[in-house]
Amino acid sequence: MLRERVRKAITSQPQPVVTVLSSLLAVEDEMGYIPPEAVEEVAEHTQSTVNDVWAVASFYTNFRFTSPMERVVEVCWGPTCHLMGAQEVMRCAQELLGMQGEGDTSDGKVTLKYNTCLGACSQAPVVMADHKLVGRCTPERLAALLRAERTGYHAPGAHS
Ligand code: FES
Repeated sequence: MLRERVRKAITSQPQPVVTVLSSLLAVEDEMGYIPPEAVEEVAEHTQSTVNDVWAVASFYTNFRFTSPMERVVEVCWGPTCHLMGAQEVMRCAQELLGMQGEGDTSDGKVTLKYNTCLGACSQAPVVMADHKLVGRCTPERLAALLRAERTGYHAPGAHS
């Protein structure tokens, strides 16, 4: 099942030139992380060695190698979002989740990530919460979203 998803992600890349990096990005997009099986599959598909794939994967700090938490919140801090108030949204996310930066909450339930552009600049500032794009996000909207989508959820850093 996992290998099937990984293979599908690798073989469904639309661009004509498929590389180790593009394949790793495709897997990360599909799975939210790079499982060890994916390194083997990418190696096989790109006729590389497992060591070569690991070298590329470990060079880029944006890849994660453990499965993300139950909920994933991505805050865009690209130029447009930055100008339109992403800083406040990000600060709110960190405060609510009790974090200083990207990572997983101490209760192991939420992963917070930053993104350089979520591809919806006209709706800046933008947040991706559990694969749903939220445009014109305000700190209040983010707070509501974090609470609404998790009944009874109390983030470790939340003051309510
Ligand atoms: S800069 Fe945020 S969506 Fe493009």
